Amino acid sequence: MSLGLGWLAFAAVAVTGVQGEKSAVETERKELLSKAMASLQTAAKSLNDPVRPAYHFAAPALWMNDPNGPIYYQGWYHAFYQFNPYGDQWGHMHWGHARSRDLVNWEHLPIGVMPTLSKGEEHVFSGSTYLNVDGKPTIFYTSIGKREPEQWAATPLDPDLFAWQKVAENPVVSQQTHRSTHIEEWRDPFLFTVNGKTYMLTGGRENGRGVIVAHRAVNAELTKWIYQGVLFRYHNDRNLECPNFAKIGDRWMLLVSVNGRVESFVGKLDPEKIEFTSERPGVLLDGSYASQLLHDKDGRLVYLGWLNTNYHQGWNGCFTLPNEISLDAEGHILSKPYRELEKLRGEKFTLGNIDLTTPLDLSGRVREGQYELIVEIDPGTASKVSLRLLASPDGKRAVTVDYDVKAHRLVTQGRIPVDVTAKNGPLRLHLFVDRSTLDLYADGGAIAQSGAYRVDPEDRGLWIAAEGGAARVKSLTIYPMKAARFDSKRIQRSGS
Ligand code: FRU
Repeated sequence: MSLGLGWLAFAAVAVTGVQGEKSAVETERKELLSKAMASLQTAAKSLNDPVRPAYHFAAPALWMNDPNGPIYYQGWYHAFYQFNPYGDQWGHMHWGHARSRDLVNWEHLPIGVMPTLSKGEEHVFSGSTYLNVDGKPTIFYTSIGKREPEQWAATPLDPDLFAWQKVAENPVVSQQTHRSTHIEEWRDPFLFTVNGKTYMLTGGRENGRGVIVAHRAVNAELTKWIYQGVLFRYHNDRNLECPNFAKIGDRWMLLVSVNGRVESFVGKLDPEKIEFTSERPGVLLDGSYASQLLHDKDGRLVYLGWLNTNYHQGWNGCFTLPNEISLDAEGHILSKPYRELEKLRGEKFTLGNIDLTTPLDLSGRVREGQYELIVEIDPGTASKVSLRLLASPDGKRAVTVDYDVKAHRLVTQGRIPVDVTAKNGPLRLHLFVDRSTLDLYADGGAIAQSGAYRVDPEDRGLWIAAEGGAARVKSLTIYPMKAARFDSKRIQRSGS
């Protein structure tokens, strides 16, 4: 009997101990949240920068990088992002948070996840969100401190997913989990399920080669994992960041961020061994980095990436436009602007059949610096057709897109030159300009680029010209683009 009571007393102390620790961590979370939100509110108040994109998603102010854990859940798209609430340079990584009904207009929310400093966490690095057995979204991210990186999980404290608490089982995966090998620069968990088994992919470097490794979940709560092995080995020693993996048509597509780009690999997955064989490498949305994939409510595969704008003027960075990703009959990845962006279109302006004997100046049509341009150009006898975008009023500075007619090569400033495969017929370009960014689509989506440029506020000119012969603009459409809605009500009060 006394033994039983003793046990009860011990259990009570243990429970109080655990609860005490839990509530201390919760108090710390709330304190850190109010401090970070106060800093963000101050920064957001003084922000008014005419070169800041108006319809690309960006944090309310300050530094952001990678999109993290986008998910459609109970009528909302939730997107998180790497966020520094204390400055416009990289540091103090938290997960900023926003939600949207359409991936175009957004509502800013209080910061979702922040480092638990009392547990030695200094940064909450990138990761993803996945539904566990109860249909509860669970965040998986890389926890960074003065120790080896670890993969941690967090679950929501409320049905709106505003506040998140870290699970008691953390770290859910550590270097000890794959004791047979050591992975350097190990991070960025991404989850997927095949044949009823759930896997976590992480990137890094092993034995001098970039790798993506897989762990397999051994419980339905996704808190216990064992090492599966290497999914993919890169051809050199660069460490691979931010893996994304999705079934697309009858193939699988692996995205990794490396060499400052998102590289894509389309190929086959051995669903038992979880080994991936690439059949077709490429670069996806050149100019963007640290991608995330999500399935929208209609099952479309959507790509979001990070644009490093390099402004550091009270803000830095934004997402790419949302892109719908598909595979064509030959296995090429196609990226198309997400259809919902059409909601932002203003009044349409069209032109047709204009000979480019002199440069065509459309600057007067795009003074707001926010527009969509769809143009068909017949190169005729010209050797080069050029677009000058985000051009200074005297035309001297501009972001250039040049088409080398003979080589069928498109050269966008700052991007890798690409070959246009639709060689016969007019050059068809679809562009989005947003004050300092340029998103470009050609070749039916086989060519897609997304990038940010350093421009002055008055650099809003647009010119189309040809050299070496007679070219003609067959058709041209401009839609001024409205600013997307960014509702900041919920971040004006302090978070809780
Ligand atoms: C990619 C990246 C990730 C990392 C995060 C840190 O841009 O380096 O690998 O988790 O940024 O902010």
